[in-house]
Amino acid sequence: MPIVVAGATGALGRLVIDALLDRSAADEIVAVARDRARAADLAARGVDVRIADYRRPETLQDVFSAGDRALLISGNEAGQRVGRHRAVIDAAREARVGLLAYTSILGGPTATFRIAEEHIATEQALLASGVPYSLLRNGWHHENYTGALATTLKTGAVVGSAGGGRVATAARRDYAEAAAAVLTGSGHERSVHELSGDTAWTMAEYAAEVSRQTGREIRYQDLPQERYAALLIDSGVPAMGAQLAADADAGIARGELGSTPGDLSRLLGRPTTPIAEAIAEALKDLPAQS
Ligand SMILES: NC(=O)c1ccc[n+]([C@@H]2O[C@H](COP(=O)([O-])OP(=O)(O)OC[C@H]3O[C@@H](n4cnc5c(N)ncnc54)[C@H](OP(=O)(O)O)[C@@H]3O)[C@@H](O)[C@H]2O)c1
Repeated sequence: MPIVVAGATGALGRLVIDALLDRSAADEIVAVARDRARAADLAARGVDVRIADYRRPETLQDVFSAGDRALLISGNEAGQRVGRHRAVIDAAREARVGLLAYTSILGGPTATFRIAEEHIATEQALLASGVPYSLLRNGWHHENYTGALATTLKTGAVVGSAGGGRVATAARRDYAEAAAAVLTGSGHERSVHELSGDTAWTMAEYAAEVSRQTGREIRYQDLPQERYAALLIDSGVPAMGAQLAADADAGIARGELGSTPGDLSRLLGRPTTPIAEAIAEALKDLPAQS
């Protein structure tokens, strides 16, 4: 039975395809992309690439078939996502797919930070569609933090507005493998998975771990939400992304991304990747520090 991944050329999507290729034959896997050139490497690996753009629902007509198991990876155009996700859900319903998994947000409707709004609305659209669903409520990725390690080392500080809140991050690869486990497993129809790392940590603990691994003094600098957003904007982050990131940090301060129910490690059949391991891996990729 084909397994369809929408958002296959994104960072998470590529890892989902890798994880599926470990479990299924390439010609069983359909990668949905809006740009054929970006998917050329996937086609070269034998994956069936189909071109569609959520903004043009007619392009989604031939993407799904009856009985498919499919994954919709949430899009990257904040503020525009719900309508675009709905177009994919409508196409999946019309084709009578057997399962549509969606990468939502940890906590689902209980999350009160702004990034959650579009995920909650998408969950509601999926539930209302009648399509057999699996909600993959993903927590924060390690890479949100390790991706900024070069700046952290340059400035000697991890900066945010998360206060002493704990965040239960996992590796992007962990979330990708969990998605592949759901797509290739059985009994996931009408399921909800609260996916997060096994361990929740504070920003001060993260800074201390970076210090330990680098031998440099790295501290956590907590800023009021508006000041943190302004700092992100000054460093080149677009205004909307900066506001959303600072608002999500306030959510972390309230404990909204810190839950550790263990769903992710259960799906993986192993512990989630520790943040210390992700830091070590990311440090290896950085140019030598003076
Ligand atoms: N929880 C966290 O810590 C965390 C961290 C990072 C990301 N995220 C979220 O998780 C999701 C996946 O992350 P990611 O890093 O894989 O993001 P990404 O690389 O931006 O991937 C998003 C995918 O959606 C596709 N897409 C977007 N709009 C589309 C459209 N109109 N038509 C067809 N395809 C469209 C993109 O296509 P292209 O490849 O052509 O751009 C891309 O493949 C995103 O929603 C992101 O915001 C969460």
